[in-house]
Amino acid sequence: MQKFTARAHTNIALMKYWGKSDESLIIPTTSSISLTLNEFFTDTTVQFDEKLDHDDISLNTEPLSGKAAQKVHDFLNLIRERANINVFAHVDSVNHVPTAAGLASSASAFAALAGAGAAAAGLSLSKTELSRLARRGSGSASRSVFGGFVEWHRGSDDSSSFAEPLFETVDWPIQLLTVVINDQPKKIDSRGGMQHTKATSPFYQDWVSLSDENLPKMRAGLASHDLETIGEIAEQNALQMHALNTTATPPFNYLTDVTWEVLDTVHELRAKGIPVYATMDAGPNVKLISRPVDTQLITDALRNMSANVQITVATPGPGMTVQEGAFIS
Ligand code: PMV
Repeated sequence: MQKFTARAHTNIALMKYWGKSDESLIIPTTSSISLTLNEFFTDTTVQFDEKLDHDDISLNTEPLSGKAAQKVHDFLNLIRERANINVFAHVDSVNHVPTAAGLASSASAFAALAGAGAAAAGLSLSKTELSRLARRGSGSASRSVFGGFVEWHRGSDDSSSFAEPLFETVDWPIQLLTVVINDQPKKIDSRGGMQHTKATSPFYQDWVSLSDENLPKMRAGLASHDLETIGEIAEQNALQMHALNTTATPPFNYLTDVTWEVLDTVHELRAKGIPVYATMDAGPNVKLISRPVDTQLITDALRNMSANVQITVATPGPGMTVQEGAFIS
């Protein structure tokens, strides 16, 4: 069977997905909005091969095993079922996400696997169908099928829960500065973290209501290129998610003292009139929504902190592409 390669870029949520109403179908309790990033992506090549007696999976040229390989295998099963084939596959995936950026790659990984896997299985799926499929691997992957600002509509079942571009071309000055903090606390993966919070926090419904209230405001901010509205809502949404985790039983926390030092620096910059806003995911690292023109100023302020951080610039990026063969030119 033919070999196909897909390239999908990672994304950062400005309004987060944090909890599911259906665990197995990955239907979220809230809609979410993200920005796809140009600098960080995954290239994945898939070829189904009748000679194989198991899925042969590699990541960054090393064979993948254990839990991670099982997730890929389960995802390929969805594709096999849909294409009505019973053949194992070669999967070669390369992450172009520098460790210095501290970004999780599951969004770009499962979007690229959906794109290359579906094409290699002979399925001709629309981008909406690919988004629904990618969602089954990792919720945030549903958004990486598209470029620019993307909304994942929570929906209520498999067919109504998919992402859609809000503004696929971003032709105004907005960027994310990724700030990597080195004192990594004990890791709780996003799947486990959101499940635990939803099951035990007495404030979970408040999180859902606040998100519902802020979504139209975020959409309006994006439509009018209003960095202040976008940033304020994104920062509040992230802090609400992290506060929620501390109200779970037992509580847990992804943020460290250095995260708070970055947040303090951001607030000092804002007090001086610099529009810079923070968002954090399932880890201590910070992503700063900002204008390219302020990069130097923000970087200097962060370098003046007592803690050492690594800073990388990320700009709006494109949607997924799929092509026949092994390489993306
Ligand atoms: O798609 P997952 O299971 O990696 O979860 C993503 C969770 C957050 O990154 C914290 C929020 C989001 O919407 O991307």
